[in-house]
Amino acid sequence: MSNTGTVGVGVIGAGVISSQYLENLTRFPDLEVSFVADLDRDRAAAQARKYGIPGSGTVADLLAIDAIEIVVNLTIPAAHVDVGLQILDAGKHVWAEKPFALDREGGRLLLDRAVERGLRVASAPDTFLGAGLQTAQRLVDAGEIGAATTALALFRAVGPESWHPNPEFLFAKGGGPLYDMGPYYLTALVQLFGPVARVTAAASTSRATRVIGSGPRAGTEFPVEVPTHHAALVDFESGASAQVVFSFESRWECPAVLEVAGTTGALALPDPNAFEGMISVWTDDPAHPREIESTGVSDGRGIGVLELARAIRTGVPERAHGQLAFHVLDVIVSIDESARSGVPALVPSTAQRPSALPVGWDPKARTV
Ligand SMILES: NC(=O)c1ccc[n+]([C@@H]2O[C@H](COP(=O)([O-])OP(=O)(O)OC[C@H]3O[C@@H](n4cnc5c(N)ncnc54)[C@H](O)[C@@H]3O)[C@@H](O)[C@H]2O)c1
Repeated sequence: MSNTGTVGVGVIGAGVISSQYLENLTRFPDLEVSFVADLDRDRAAAQARKYGIPGSGTVADLLAIDAIEIVVNLTIPAAHVDVGLQILDAGKHVWAEKPFALDREGGRLLLDRAVERGLRVASAPDTFLGAGLQTAQRLVDAGEIGAATTALALFRAVGPESWHPNPEFLFAKGGGPLYDMGPYYLTALVQLFGPVARVTAAASTSRATRVIGSGPRAGTEFPVEVPTHHAALVDFESGASAQVVFSFESRWECPAVLEVAGTTGALALPDPNAFEGMISVWTDDPAHPREIESTGVSDGRGIGVLELARAIRTGVPERAHGQLAFHVLDVIVSIDESARSGVPALVPSTAQRPSALPVGWDPKARTV
């Protein structure tokens, strides 16, 4: 393993989301993707072939490769911690897909093991590094809307069983709209407002089973094991507050809502599960917003892996750091607990707001 030059990357999990990652990671000149692993070796081989990656096979095969420094963990949520610990024990840095873990204990295990081994554990989402949310962060940091005081975040959809060929994990522990989609919205809110102090939540489940809507198993009924609708009030350490809804109960695919109001203006932001989009800015005339095209990186999933690789080479902290992911997980678990108990829940952890990316940060440049 070298401390200079292109950073070696391996990918574990060759399912639905691996295509977006592999498409992007193989185009960043600072990275060299050399191996794809999966429990299903044929699936790993097919993805490796499709994206021109030389090796594929088992997790053990991947972890034995010295040149791989970062392992991208794209397994299902129930496997995130076990696979993450294996990666760290093999002496490699982790990029984890969301949710970071199923519970606080799992998340803490990952953070502690990384410290013990002198390695890094960074995590999705990396959408907050994209043009849309970076432009929003720059506007908020520049005082464009005064002090940010309130927000509204709404995710409402019919449910991913309509399009995901193996959707059971999205309705099991670690799934549901709170754990599956909450990370995008809550990470964006922590990016813009800082850490969360307290949550007050309600939840419901409309149906005990759902039916797979696509792929070879279409028509198969499976159990719903978690709430499919969460609504919460979120109080930040700063004194600001937000209302959030995460729902698989909608009868239509509603557009994402992420609005931030401040003492002198307001912003309507693009979908926080996207990397770009228009921003509406209300400052002078409440009836007529200015429409701003967001500027920055729009390459999609994988820019956080690249940012981690560059941070490793330059010896600085990565922005999508594990403590941020752990705090977002802690907020999610606290929302879940508050909904179950019917009382507000204090969020035990905290995290630093990640700084904005430098203007002109370019994934396609060779920098290492
Ligand atoms: N599908 C999406 O649109 C999407 C978007 C963003 C993030 N994600 C996240 O990415 C992760 C994967 O989602 P997906 O939709 O690709 O799931 P998927 O079920 O399509 O793929 C998961 C893959 O991981 C493999 N796997 C599971 N456990 C493993 C283990 N212990 N060792 C090796 N391989 C293992 C499975 O065989 C499967 O091929 C989840 O955490 C999900 O939340 C998914």
